[in-house]
Amino acid sequence: MGSRRRFIKNSGALLTGAALSPMITGKLKAGISANDQLNVALIGCRGMGMYDLTDHLKQAGINCAALCDVDSNILQERAKTVQELTGKTPALYKDYRRVIDDPDVDIVIIGTPDHWHCLPAVDACAAGKDVYVEKPLANSIAECQVMLKAARKHSRIVQVGQQQRSGQHWQDIVALVRSGKLGTIRKIKAWGYFPYGKGSPKVPDSPPPDGVDYNLWLGPSPEHPFNKNRFHGSWRHYWHHGGGLLTDWGVHLLDIPLWAMEVKFPGSVMATGGIYAFPENAIETPDTLNVLYDYGSFTLEWDHAGGISRGLYGRSYGVAFIGNNGTLIVNREGWEVVAESENNADKTPVIPLQPADDLSHEKHVKNFLECVKSRKSPICEIEQGHNVALVAHMGNIAYRTGNKLYWDESKGKFMDDHKANAYLKPEYRSPWKFPA
Ligand SMILES: NC(=O)c1ccc[n+]([C@@H]2O[C@H](COP(=O)([O-])OP(=O)(O)OC[C@H]3O[C@@H](n4cnc5c(N)ncnc54)[C@H](O)[C@@H]3O)[C@@H](O)[C@H]2O)c1
Repeated sequence: MGSRRRFIKNSGALLTGAALSPMITGKLKAGISANDQLNVALIGCRGMGMYDLTDHLKQAGINCAALCDVDSNILQERAKTVQELTGKTPALYKDYRRVIDDPDVDIVIIGTPDHWHCLPAVDACAAGKDVYVEKPLANSIAECQVMLKAARKHSRIVQVGQQQRSGQHWQDIVALVRSGKLGTIRKIKAWGYFPYGKGSPKVPDSPPPDGVDYNLWLGPSPEHPFNKNRFHGSWRHYWHHGGGLLTDWGVHLLDIPLWAMEVKFPGSVMATGGIYAFPENAIETPDTLNVLYDYGSFTLEWDHAGGISRGLYGRSYGVAFIGNNGTLIVNREGWEVVAESENNADKTPVIPLQPADDLSHEKHVKNFLECVKSRKSPICEIEQGHNVALVAHMGNIAYRTGNKLYWDESKGKFMDDHKANAYLKPEYRSPWKFPA
C-alpha cells in the first residue's frame, strides 16, 4: 500500500502543471491496484461530512484513518460512531494541518463550513492527497479559482459534493433536454423555497461552548465574538461563512442547467431581493432573492424564499426547463413533462412523474473512489464545482452591489466594475494566508 501511495503522489509531481486529461490519467492507472486499501480522513465532522464519510465506509477497502474537528464534543461523538461502524478508532485531530501532515492519509473529505473549504483543499492537493470536497466549492470566486489551480498543478482527483450528477434520474433529464424534444428552450427556472432560509431569532453573544476552539472555527474569516447563530449549521446565513440559499441550494440546482445546456458562465447577471420577510431574525443573506442570468439564447432564473415552502409548480424546490413544446420539471424526488398543445394535439409526449433513484450520494462516493484508483476524472470534477460556484457567487455579488454584472472569463473577474470585483477575494485573517 505504501508503494501505491507513493506512486500516486509521485505521479502528481511528475505531472505538475498539466491538466488532468484521460490520456495522462490512463498512464497512471497501471501502477495502482484496484484492491489497495485507501485511508480516508474527514475534516469537519458534524453534518454532511459525516454523511460523506459513512458512504465512503460502505465501500470495500476503505479505512477511516483520522477525524478532525475544532469542536471536541463532535469529534468524540463521531469517533464513537466510527468505532461502532468499523471496529477501529481513528486518529483524532483539532487542527486540519495534522491531517495534511499524516503520510498515511490518501483521501481527505472536507465537510467544514464554506469559509473553511479552500485552505484544507489546497493543502491536501499540495500534499498529494485526493479530495472529496463539499459544495459550494468555496465561499468566494477567488478561492474557487485557486482550488482549481491547485488540483490541476498537483494532478489530484477532486470530487465536489454535488451528488445530483451521479443520480440516474438527473442523467435521464439531461439526455431529454439535449434530445430537443422540448423544443427551443428559452427559459430555465431554478428555485428553492425553504423554511430554514430565514435565520433564527437573535440571541446575545456568549462564551463558546466548552471544548470548542472558536478562533480556529473562524480561521481565515474576520474575528467575531461567539454567537450561537454564527456557528454550527446556521453559519450559512452570514456572508463571511456562506452565501445563503443561493450558494447552499443554488449550486445543486443551477448545476443542472449548466450541465444540460453545456454552458459555463452567463453574459450578464442581475439580482434583486432583501431581508423582507424576517428582518428581526439573525441573518445577513437575503431571505428573498431573484437572480437573472442571460445566456444569450436563454435566460436562467434563480428564485428563493426562506421561511416558506410553497414554490413553483407545486414543489418547494426544483428546476424547470421551459421549451416551446413542453416544460420539464425536476427535483430530487423525480421529474415530469407537461406538454404545450396546438390544435388539440400535444407538441411533446406528456410524461407523468418519474420517481428518482435515491442512491445518488452513494454512487457519487463510489465514482470518486473508482477515480482515485483509475485516475480518471470524477463525475463532478472540480471544474464543474468551480463553474457553478462562480455562477452562484455572481448572483450574490449582483445582489450586494445592485449592479448588472458582466463576467470576463479570460480575466476571471467582472468587466469594469470595481465594486463587484472587490467581492472576488476575501481578506484572510492573520496568521492564515490566502494560498499563493
Ligand atoms: N451535498 C449536500 O447535499 C450537502 C448537504 C448539507 C451540507 N453540505 C455542505 O457541507 C458542508 C458542511 O455543512 P454542515 O451543514 O455539515 O455544517 P455543520 O456546521 O453542521 O458542520 C461543520 C463542521 O465542521 C467543523 N469545523 C469548522 N471549522 C473546522 C476546521 N477548521 N477544522 C475542522 N473542523 C471544522 C465544525 O465544528 C462542524 O463540526 C458545507 O459546505 C455545506 O454546504 C452539503
